[in-house]
Amino acid sequence: MNIRPRRNRKSPVVRALVRENQVCAKDLIYPLFLLEGANKKIEVESMPGIYRLGIEHMLKEVDECMKLGIKSFDIFPVVEEKHKDKVATKSYDDTFFYLTALKRIKAEFPEACIMTDVAMDPYSSDGHDGLVDKNGNILNDESLEILGKMALAQARTGIDIIGPSDMMDGRVGYIREVLDLEGFSNVSIMSYTAKYASAFYGPFRDALDSAPKSGDKKTYQMDPANQREALIEADLDVEEGADFLMVKPALAYLDVIKLLKDNYDLPIAAYNVSGEYAMVCAAAEKGWLDKTAIMNEVLLSIKRAGADIILTYYAKEFAKQEC
Ligand code: PBG
Repeated sequence: MNIRPRRNRKSPVVRALVRENQVCAKDLIYPLFLLEGANKKIEVESMPGIYRLGIEHMLKEVDECMKLGIKSFDIFPVVEEKHKDKVATKSYDDTFFYLTALKRIKAEFPEACIMTDVAMDPYSSDGHDGLVDKNGNILNDESLEILGKMALAQARTGIDIIGPSDMMDGRVGYIREVLDLEGFSNVSIMSYTAKYASAFYGPFRDALDSAPKSGDKKTYQMDPANQREALIEADLDVEEGADFLMVKPALAYLDVIKLLKDNYDLPIAAYNVSGEYAMVCAAAEKGWLDKTAIMNEVLLSIKRAGADIILTYYAKEFAKQEC
């Protein structure tokens, strides 16, 4: 035997020399849930260790993360039912707590990268990402106008990246145009390019209380059976001016991450979603899996598949280890 692959695995230092991929804190975006009451803090039951935070706690959390090397955050609002309506009015009301909080976060941490979510669901009494007509259809072009107003209101707070997660056709181009016309050509768009109609979003919808009141999201989010369709979405996003392409969920869609990485030159992001996190926590609580080891393996596998950036609820926990 003159070829013995085990020689390159013989010690920690040799394994480190030949290691092909590594996850660093700088690769991670930490999703955070913002509550209306400034001093409130409520754990998400299905996501142990993840909290819905009022602005005072949120500022502390961002500060702690920054010190650990996590400098990018995707902030989602928890909207009380009384603020919701069919046309998501609160999503572009500059006095609404989400928008005023974003302004404060950017003012206190100008060096942080703040990402926001564009979709109607947290603000919609229907719980859908777009407008719903009386027959239950999700209206595409009519929704764009609202999404554009929402993106603009978010841009005005000083945030860095807009994340359209709604999957309406044409929204990236529409939002790009609105932002540019209003002087926000420097605000980036991370498009949820290949966002699948997935059951892995369950715990997130619990956290935000944003589940659809009727129907499902299958007429706008992608069919989990499809891979090539992601190329159609990615072509459109590139043409429409996206700065990043995202695949979501991550773990069950590693092939799609690889496909986009191989076919596009834009940075590829992957969203390691709430259900992926909850599964590991549940097994770890039972003593069936080692949470830290699984966290590292999961993040590495997403990186190895081709993701440059990972949105993950593990971000803070990961950063507490050495990179
Ligand atoms: C809103 C949105 C969702 C997620 C991110 N943005 C839920 C959905 O589309 O139903 C899911 C994130 C997660 O599960 O961690 N459109």
